[in-house]
Amino acid sequence: MNILLTGGAGYIGSHTAVVLSEAGHEVVVLDNFCNSKKSVLTSLQQILGKELICIDGDIRNTPLVIKILKDHQINAVIHFAGLKAVGESVQMPIEYYANNAQGTISLLEAMKSTGVKALVFSSSATVYGDPQYLPIDENHPTSATNPYGRSKLHIEEMLKDVAISDAEWKIICLRYFNPVGAHDSGLIREDPQGIPNNLMPFILKVIAGDLPVLNVYGKDYPTIDGTGVRDYIHVMDLAEGHLAALLFLSNRYGWHVINLGTGVGHSVLEMIHASEEGSGKKINFQFAPRRPGDIASCYADVKKANQDLAWVATRTLQEMCLYRPVKK
Ligand code: NAD
Ligand code: WQD
Repeated sequence: MNILLTGGAGYIGSHTAVVLSEAGHEVVVLDNFCNSKKSVLTSLQQILGKELICIDGDIRNTPLVIKILKDHQINAVIHFAGLKAVGESVQMPIEYYANNAQGTISLLEAMKSTGVKALVFSSSATVYGDPQYLPIDENHPTSATNPYGRSKLHIEEMLKDVAISDAEWKIICLRYFNPVGAHDSGLIREDPQGIPNNLMPFILKVIAGDLPVLNVYGKDYPTIDGTGVRDYIHVMDLAEGHLAALLFLSNRYGWHVINLGTGVGHSVLEMIHASEEGSGKKINFQFAPRRPGDIASCYADVKKANQDLAWVATRTLQEMCLYRPVKK
């Protein structure tokens, strides 16, 4: 199949490009590089032994998206492009709604006008808000506490309406839990600008000596050791989940929602210890007050993914926390 990856130069998109390309699909990337570097394309070429088609452009440029869908005879779209920093979204809600929601409308307009009606959407466990029960299944009530999460919820609602409006659409919404880790080559990875907000990128910078100390936010949560628990999933497992989702969509119409996680939660201290083993280095950390808006525990019920997608996350915590120095 010919597959368009919006945001395909980003963290999850680039890993998915590898998996899809190795499975024999033709991958076309559309990215405006607002949160990724062009050097990712060279790395992808090194991994795959061939050049990927990449268009430097914005999903909000509807005529451009229409042209790409036509020129490359696209069969399905995986929609990663968007802004994703929770704190930043509180400061810049207009930019978040413009990029995430308006960008998705532009993409949908282009898809509708070209008759490309198969879509995989990158949603997030953030749409479950503060969990009412664990593990979280797809029927758990949704809510949002920040503009980023609300933009994901708005998009989900829009996509559901689109799928209801026209029986030819096939749309799957994947709700990712906490993606971590990198491709074995070490050539592609999560590479945030500045000081990372998320746990694993921060740990990696402390290991590399770029940051002096990790703040562990909260030590009095009702969890195994008092620190926050999350469902960390290896990004290559997540990438393979997209391949499974495309296969699923080949003969399913309508709207589908599926969690992608491991079903197992790990605490911040467990992640620190696994990263110490994975790097052979001691990680300097200190306890700090709880981070506003954080929840105690969050992990997925993955039965639906296992059954409907015939997909299961197989990589271990050790593999997720393996340290690969940046190749300069
Ligand atoms: P990322 O920032 O690494 O990748 C997103 C890519 O989209 C970047 O390369 C960026 O340049 C591009 N982009 C952004 N706006 C664009 C636009 N208007 N036009 C074209 N390209 C644009 O993020 P990621 O971690 O790979 O996340 C991918 C998707 O998965 C996002 O939608 C994110 O909200 C979602 N998600 C991520 C996580 C996570 O923890 N990483 C968890 C749940 C959901
Ligand atoms: C994990 C745990 C922190 C940093 C976020 C988004 C969510 C989704 C995934 C996109 C928590 C603790 C963190 C640090 C720490 N992204 N922590 N010190 O908060 O589960 O989810 O990323 O959709 O929307 O909200 O991930 O990695 O930020 O935090 O102690 O420096 O690590 O308190 O318990 P989170 P995270």
